Amino acid sequence: MTFQGVRKAVIPAAGLGTRFLPVTKATPKEMLPVVDKPAIQYVVEEAVAAGLEDILFVTGRSKRPLEDHFDRNYELEQVLESKGDTERLNLVRESTDLARIHYVRQGDPLGLGHAVLVAQQHVGDEPFAVLLGDDLIDARDPILERMIAIRSEFGGSVLCLMQVPRETISLYGCVGIETDPINGVFAVTDLVEKPDIADAPSDLAIIGRYILDPAVFAVLSETAPGRGGEIQLTDALRVLAKMSPAQGGGVRGVIFDGRRYDTGDKLSYLQAVITLASQRPDIGPQLTAWLQEFTSTGSTGNQ
Ligand code: UTP
Repeated sequence: MTFQGVRKAVIPAAGLGTRFLPVTKATPKEMLPVVDKPAIQYVVEEAVAAGLEDILFVTGRSKRPLEDHFDRNYELEQVLESKGDTERLNLVRESTDLARIHYVRQGDPLGLGHAVLVAQQHVGDEPFAVLLGDDLIDARDPILERMIAIRSEFGGSVLCLMQVPRETISLYGCVGIETDPINGVFAVTDLVEKPDIADAPSDLAIIGRYILDPAVFAVLSETAPGRGGEIQLTDALRVLAKMSPAQGGGVRGVIFDGRRYDTGDKLSYLQAVITLASQRPDIGPQLTAWLQEFTSTGSTGNQ
């Protein structure tokens, strides 16, 4: 039996971004530049590369910069066109032509679970992907397509898991799994949001890529605020893990061991910028040479 395919992606971007204040006071953290593109453009490109061209952004109070980035900018295009600067013109148009983009407002940021729930009307009764806008997965280590294939084979919902040092598990949602994977796919038996180290069922953290069965909407609408007073997606997934396949239940996980950056965290954000910039043919060689000198001499020279 094969299950209904995944066509739509939901990208929640309505969080307050308090870890990155003050820049996030008026700018969504998803719009912070990673080299020369906003972090969220990488996430949209990842969804499109996995075949998902219908994208719904869940936005919060400062959605303008996001909307403008994925919309046309006729004035700028005209200026570049009149100068015959096709290279920059293409860069400007790239984000507009990527995908079919839709928006829904979350209103109050009541939690990730609530952000997913406001996507219900757009998504309807079909499985969908959720990509967190501040979680950047290196394009060289794609995982989404594999998760979509797992959903087609098994139904239910699919999580992306990452092994983390045990002492950091309380920063993440954490899963309990059955130990015997089938072709690298684990059955998830338990989920806890940001557990105390002593209560963590494993050292496997949930990272920001999900394939969700539409059954999640009914569960979320009954989910009470949990950790931090927020409606937690992890709490709804715990219910789904215990529901039968006939009801849209069942949660599986796959372990990701590629490169990934949390652009909502200052240190990880800087690492993302430096890693991706150092691989760019236009600025990489110069940056790497500067970094080598900087780390060996502590010099703040600018060459
Ligand atoms: P985070 O917990 O990382 O986002 O949520 P945050 O609340 O903005 O961050 P800090 O901790 O205050 O710095 C994970 C994802 O869920 C979205 C966020 O935008 C982020 O992509 N989110 C979170 C929402 O869309 N709505 C919410 O109510 C909460």
